[in-house]
Amino acid sequence: MPYSILLDCDPGLDDALALLLAHGDPNIELVGVTTVGGNVKLENTTRNALQLREYLKFPDVPVSAGAAGPLVREARDAAHVHGSGGLGSVVLPDAQLAVTGQHAADFIIETLKKTPGKIHLVATGPLTNIAIALEREPAIARWAASFTIMGGSYTRGNATVAAEFNIWADPEAAKIVFDADWRVTMIGLDLTLQAHANGAVIDRLKQLGSLADELIVPLATFYFNPTMPDWDGQAVHDVCAVAYVARPDLFLAQPARVDIETRGEFTAGMTVVDFDTSTPNSLVATKLDVDGFWAYVESVYARVAAEHSA
Ligand code: BDR
Ligand code: CA
Repeated sequence: MPYSILLDCDPGLDDALALLLAHGDPNIELVGVTTVGGNVKLENTTRNALQLREYLKFPDVPVSAGAAGPLVREARDAAHVHGSGGLGSVVLPDAQLAVTGQHAADFIIETLKKTPGKIHLVATGPLTNIAIALEREPAIARWAASFTIMGGSYTRGNATVAAEFNIWADPEAAKIVFDADWRVTMIGLDLTLQAHANGAVIDRLKQLGSLADELIVPLATFYFNPTMPDWDGQAVHDVCAVAYVARPDLFLAQPARVDIETRGEFTAGMTVVDFDTSTPNSLVATKLDVDGFWAYVESVYARVAAEHSA
């Protein structure tokens, strides 16, 4: 029985690789893609999602655009990481097909409502669309089969010392999301920094032909810097969140209470994680089976690559 996934994302190098996994795994049915402003502006994340949909050939999966910026703050992007367009050096053909015209939050509500308990919601960008959806319809917290995010950390951040980018970009939205009536699975930096596309991984990916040459390797190496001490390749953060839904056996996750710092001068966007709680609201991923993860991801990518060059 396939896992139905609705992916809310801000492509984004690793979001694009996550989309590729969700599309390519035969055990995943991708039921929709929603976009949010984050790594780059909404118009670019949406354009990237539309272009990827046609390039990867899943034209029937609806794409809906959502929030251009955070609930209350000024937008702050990560174009310095993902390139000004969001996909690094990758340039894809213009898309012919358009977005649904429905706001991402309404698309999420409508889609989850149709088949309660069946669709796994995954968010790999700032949590603005999910927060708006929860405010418009709190019952989505019951209708989602599960809710998994890439975001946060229980040690240190990457946007600031304290905060991971997706939470830092919209802490008020993250607070609404973690305080809602569901259990959030948090795939944070402590987990995703175990998933580096290092030299050995890239060498294997390079064997996959034109899809690897045109898309996978450029996305996975855009800020690869082999001259940095201790550098072990780019982490494919968002891929881990999709992988968790289809292959939870590759992850260790523990119940925890996660609260979002929204006010701290130095700590806004921090995920305050308490593993010793009696009131858990989350499952926090701690350990990845790294070899198993790459074997899974590479097998899915190989499958899509074979179809792509057929
Ligand atoms: C997260 O931030 C974004 O830049 C990436 O796409 C990922 O979702 C990592 O902190
Ligand atoms: Ca992302």
